[in-house]
Amino acid sequence: MAAFRTRNSLVLTVGLFAAGALMYACSSPQPAAAPPRAPELWGDMKSVVSVKELMRDMLDPIADNIFDAVSIVVDRKGTVETEPRNEADWDKVRIGGVTMAEGAYLLKVPRPFAPAGDENNSTGPDAVELSPAQILAKLQKDPVEWNARIEALRNVGLQVLDIVKRKDTKELWDASENLDLACEACHRSYWYPGETPEYYTRLDRRLRDRFKSAASDAGSSSKPSKSK
Ligand code: HEC
Repeated sequence: MAAFRTRNSLVLTVGLFAAGALMYACSSPQPAAAPPRAPELWGDMKSVVSVKELMRDMLDPIADNIFDAVSIVVDRKGTVETEPRNEADWDKVRIGGVTMAEGAYLLKVPRPFAPAGDENNSTGPDAVELSPAQILAKLQKDPVEWNARIEALRNVGLQVLDIVKRKDTKELWDASENLDLACEACHRSYWYPGETPEYYTRLDRRLRDRFKSAASDAGSSSKPSKSK
């Protein structure tokens, strides 16, 4: 404790000295330059692929290490329960957790949203997806939301790592659900905001109409409908 205090007062003295030096420097009329920020990264970050490809080739396939870790499948042959049973199984879940927790921050590195020329499903009457330019505009308007969605994904990764340490299979079910929510919340906001409940109601109505007219076409057809 004494050592701690001594160190503290030393820091204070040095601090005061620095403040004095700063005041001295500030006595000239020029505005003081902001102190240089401590570097947060050891080097520059450069992206390789678009967001879409980062999803397809990294986050999506490795998310399955978490999604597929626990399941119950019931079919005619019976019930098959999957859960991590040995070290190799838990290793896989851990790889999923590390990839989500670390990989999420790759979404902070500026990169195109889709490969050049790919406009997503953003044109035509049934377009539900935003174009890459629209996604970028939305992000630039509110970077706080984008970063919050990234933190949400990272937090699930951290939760998974904690679960792996405790080998808590029951909680893995929650984590899997949380992961799904983290992915989907971002997608609904940035990727396909057009997929609203109204969109599905319209789609459903259209499919039903099409089915009905197809059925009546078949009924009025001159060809015998049951030739066999
Ligand atoms: C911070 C936001 C964000 C999070 C979190 C996120 N995604 Fe995405 N994802 C996007 C955006 C934006 C696109 C669409 C990019 C485009 O097509 O322009 C996308 C696209 C995709 C695609 C489409 C790839 C293709 O080739 O069509 C898949 C698959 C995907 N994400 C899976 C996931 C999974 C699985 C998770 C969770 C583990 C996840 N994403 C989490 C933003 C996010």
